[in-house]
Amino acid sequence: MAPSAEPTFAVTNRLPEPALVALRQAGEVRLDDRAGPIPRADLLGLVAGAEAAVTLLHDRVDEELLEAAGPQLRCVANVAVGYDNVDIEAAAQRGIVVTNTPGVLDDATADLTIALLLAATRRVVEGDRLIRAGKPWAWGLSFMLGSGLRGKLLGIVGLGGIGRRVAERARAFGMEISYHQRHPAPAEVEAQLGAERLPLDQLLARADVVSLHCPLTPETRHLIGAPELAAMKPSAVLVNAARGPVVDERALAQALAAGEIAAAGLDVYEHEPQVEPALLELENVVLAPHLGSATVETRTAMAELAARNAISVLRGEGPLTPVTS
Ligand code: DGY
Repeated sequence: MAPSAEPTFAVTNRLPEPALVALRQAGEVRLDDRAGPIPRADLLGLVAGAEAAVTLLHDRVDEELLEAAGPQLRCVANVAVGYDNVDIEAAAQRGIVVTNTPGVLDDATADLTIALLLAATRRVVEGDRLIRAGKPWAWGLSFMLGSGLRGKLLGIVGLGGIGRRVAERARAFGMEISYHQRHPAPAEVEAQLGAERLPLDQLLARADVVSLHCPLTPETRHLIGAPELAAMKPSAVLVNAARGPVVDERALAQALAAGEIAAAGLDVYEHEPQVEPALLELENVVLAPHLGSATVETRTAMAELAARNAISVLRGEGPLTPVTS
């Protein structure tokens, strides 16, 4: 299809200014300015007639939305590395290019993962709650002991860009690295991280910390459920900064309450923004509201990359970071 003269970009949320500036230079921007997810009917109306849609991870891009957009839609640029909100097959059948934002959020997400790991192992948030509640406390040899990281094994599920950055940071804390994924990482990555690839059951049985960095797919939904939690060490910590449904949240709450694992740090939730009520009652879980990529620099870079993807596709120059099924 020939590139349009003045294409319309439907933007489902306010983006950092540099991204909007780039889009405005390339065409007409139709923007929904509200914070947070916009009502479905408004979303469908916003994309109708647009050549490109710049979407967020809570916008469900499915058959219905693609149909509502119309046959001129050529690109869905998701401002996220994860794209489980997009029906890739449906887009492909219509010849619509889908893009995501890999790479630019690796450091921020790895930082947040380490923050959760440290908060969970050193009981930082629990201590904060104790002080704010005005409970009596005093330094003591056995007061609020956590566990150290040096010499412990970090098991990473999904050694992609984020998983690798987490491994690099964990090495600086003296941790050993193992990982699980379908295909082996390049030999130089394994060598640089000293990382050993393990089947999931072995990783779960051996790791002191299990950190999830895999995409959400039909295969990874509830990858960590009751049997997997039972297979972990009672002293182990689970960190999830990937996608909520990778973990069976109710099973996790039960495992934490029963002491099957020691603690957890979560940035994402199975039914986001709802959180399993049983988790809220537990001291040994740290809960963050999906902050993995939430720095000014990273969100700006993500939005700019999404904008460049949409512009490039509409100019007929192809996507910079396409998603493939
Ligand atoms: C992503 O990009 O998928 C992240 O979850 C956003 O924080």
